[in-house]
Amino acid sequence: MKILKIDHLGIAVPSLAEAMKAWEALGFTRESTHEVPTERVRAAFLPVGESRLELLEPTDPRSVIARFLEKRGGLHHVCVLVDDLEAALAELKARKVRLIDEAPRAGADGSRVAFIHPQAAGGVLLELKQAPAGAPGPERT
Ligand code: CO
Repeated sequence: MKILKIDHLGIAVPSLAEAMKAWEALGFTRESTHEVPTERVRAAFLPVGESRLELLEPTDPRSVIARFLEKRGGLHHVCVLVDDLEAALAELKARKVRLIDEAPRAGADGSRVAFIHPQAAGGVLLELKQAPAGAPGPERT
């Protein structure tokens, strides 16, 4: 299992439009926006060098992000890019690391992702991501 870089930091926001105003005032720009129906969120990506901020707006009150916002909001997860997601999950399972996802699920833009339980990472929700096959250059999601 090879950890390649911080892919993005996921930040929960009640409104993407409002959040974009604030982040644009700070000098950030939006690269892309994705609907992720399986997660019931809309995600905007703001480049930070080779990494990104991922602003997450819930599209449904049952969304995990909506429930997180009821409690506190702000930084929701840290995502690291790995070279081989299946191999990483197998390795972590063998080490009895507590996972949220036993198998990869669909992320934004054809990537595949899996979440590690915050209990295994000092209270941080950790997302592992593998780039979509054949993605040109540095990962775009
Ligand atoms: Co994410």
